[in-house]
Amino acid sequence: MSIRIVQLSDLHLYRDQDSLLAGVPTWTTFRAVLDLVSRQQDDFDYLILTGDLAQDEALETYKMLREALGDWIPRCRVIPGNHDDRGKLRAVFPELLPDCEGPLTFALQCQDWRVIGLDSHTPGETSGHIDGDQLQWLRAQLASGPGYPVLLFVHHPPIPINVSWLDNLGLNDAAEFVELIETSPQIKVICAGHVHQEFAGQIGAAALYTTPSTCVQFAARNEKAFDTTMAGYRTIVLEKDGYHTEVHRLSE
Ligand SMILES: [Fe+2]
Ligand SMILES: [Fe+2]
Repeated sequence: MSIRIVQLSDLHLYRDQDSLLAGVPTWTTFRAVLDLVSRQQDDFDYLILTGDLAQDEALETYKMLREALGDWIPRCRVIPGNHDDRGKLRAVFPELLPDCEGPLTFALQCQDWRVIGLDSHTPGETSGHIDGDQLQWLRAQLASGPGYPVLLFVHHPPIPINVSWLDNLGLNDAAEFVELIETSPQIKVICAGHVHQEFAGQIGAAALYTTPSTCVQFAARNEKAFDTTMAGYRTIVLEKDGYHTEVHRLSE
């Protein structure tokens, strides 16, 4: 038996469904990606939304997102990005998020794997941060299932992706988090968003993957530039003895 996980990232939706981000109609591409998931992966176990869900951070936008996810809601999990509002996410997805104040994290037991979502949102900032309390929570999660391999989700990649303008807007003060990953060999996979492009790297025993946006794509260049690759999503299939992951994109 395997666990099939779908990751959708960087939706950048607006209240006005016709709004464009860098010329891209974000609702149109998001709905096309949902449609693709529906055709290709309808039997998925979990759908993880990894932040930057609402460009305008409006309550109405989150309600429209909930409506669009429809019957999939019980299989969804949400972590915020820089373009998100924790209070409004809590209000619209109460059954998916912790009901107390603080970071929007989650932890799932998926057969032989632990799947953990982290919250790197920093109010008012584009860059992110994971504070000491959340690292303590992560340590406790890792200690509670020492024999299980771990898949982590976090909006901001923990290490640079060699695209300087995005790396300057990455995770601040990440050294302690990176050290925790490097000293936790059970962390096998980390999936991030934020950078609107595919990248693969390594932190200790963990493979790091970033995932395309469901709307605008950025080019792997040091100055800000858009890319013409199509919007898409990632799947991660967890097996007893490993995993495999793949990016799927809309066709032209
Ligand atoms: Fe984004
Ligand atoms: Fe972001």
